[in-house]
Amino acid sequence: MNSRPMTASSLIATLALEPHIEGGFFRRTYQADHRDRIGTEGGQRFLMTSIYYLLTEESPVGQFHFNQSDILHYFHLGDAIEYNLIHADGSLQTLVMGSDVLAGQHLQLHVPGGIWKASRLLSGSNSFGLISEAVSPGFDFADMEMGNRQKLTAQYPQHRALIEKLTRDEG
Ligand code: GUN
Repeated sequence: MNSRPMTASSLIATLALEPHIEGGFFRRTYQADHRDRIGTEGGQRFLMTSIYYLLTEESPVGQFHFNQSDILHYFHLGDAIEYNLIHADGSLQTLVMGSDVLAGQHLQLHVPGGIWKASRLLSGSNSFGLISEAVSPGFDFADMEMGNRQKLTAQYPQHRALIEKLTRDEG
């Protein structure tokens, strides 16, 4: 038996995670390189890719960003994570991924492409939250846009407070 406590830093080391530009830590665990690529408007992509994604007390926010691809999220371990999704029509959807299924937390979350998404660690006893994401068509930085605070608040002024909390001040 391993008596080492499961902490954010032991998970980062064991799973070999690196900082992600949106915040948090990640590692790609899979890309469908044994299959033909799939054509998208942006070019050829893997049919599917997958990552681990970890939020920690030191890096508790995945900043608002936009993806072209569909993303399935699977909760694994630790504290719950709040997701804020801004749909193309401006409507806001807020939900929580976590293990307390009976309290309405989600083990799986499907985010279709074309949506602005941010995630935030809810403080709990673990100080980390670990999920996986499966992305199809496979992830490519060309299909992702980090949220610019000025641009997003101009587009969705009704969500200004949330956008200011979940974007970096590049001002
Ligand atoms: N977000 C979802 N999948 C990926 C990935 O494979 N790489 C990066 N950098 N971010 C992702």
